[in-house]
Amino acid sequence: MATANVSAKAAPKTGKAPAKAKADAIAEAKSFAPDLAARIGSTPKTKFRGDPDIFGRLVEDHDRHRALLAMVEDTKGKTLDRERLFTALVKELKAHAAAEEQALWSTVLRETATTEDARHAVAEHKELDDMMADLAARDMASPGWLRRFSGLKEAYLHHIGEEEQEQFVAAEKILTEADRKYMRKVFERRKKEEKAAAKVEKKIKLKA
Ligand SMILES: [Fe+2]
Ligand SMILES: [Fe+2]
Repeated sequence: MATANVSAKAAPKTGKAPAKAKADAIAEAKSFAPDLAARIGSTPKTKFRGDPDIFGRLVEDHDRHRALLAMVEDTKGKTLDRERLFTALVKELKAHAAAEEQALWSTVLRETATTEDARHAVAEHKELDDMMADLAARDMASPGWLRRFSGLKEAYLHHIGEEEQEQFVAAEKILTEADRKYMRKVFERRKKEEKAAAKVEKKIKLKA
């Protein structure tokens, strides 16, 4: 499947303009709580934003996740907005991670040059899963909930930052344009299925 030294720059790109890709991702997140005046702020630069292949699609999700994280952080106490946004975020992150593993990391893992990158990303998915289950099991009305949520936000932003700046960059080098296009299709299909089946697990997993 993988062909070495195929540069992405050689491939014609017909995706969205980066600013449009980001705006579309954020608009979808906003639809969960249109009245919430959350400031999403700037997003880290990545060469993949707007690309028509798997990496552009993953960054589109990451931008939607950045928006949802900022919006949850903007809610106060145990409100309907907080519950709705947190549930949407958890289902989004779980479906994204599972589909990303199936479409991208499983292949990247098989290539010795990138095995470590894939292992790193997948190991972090498990840690993030535990953090989300822990948060879901705790009282949303307590002041400590938002403090814990900030921990999840920080860990997730770190995770997607590393994917965009390091692991996607390494993975791109071992994939052909056809691989990357095919992976986008697999991701779309798998994410839809994973999202339909996603459940919010509630379990205290971390220390107080
Ligand atoms: Fe990931
Ligand atoms: Fe990701």
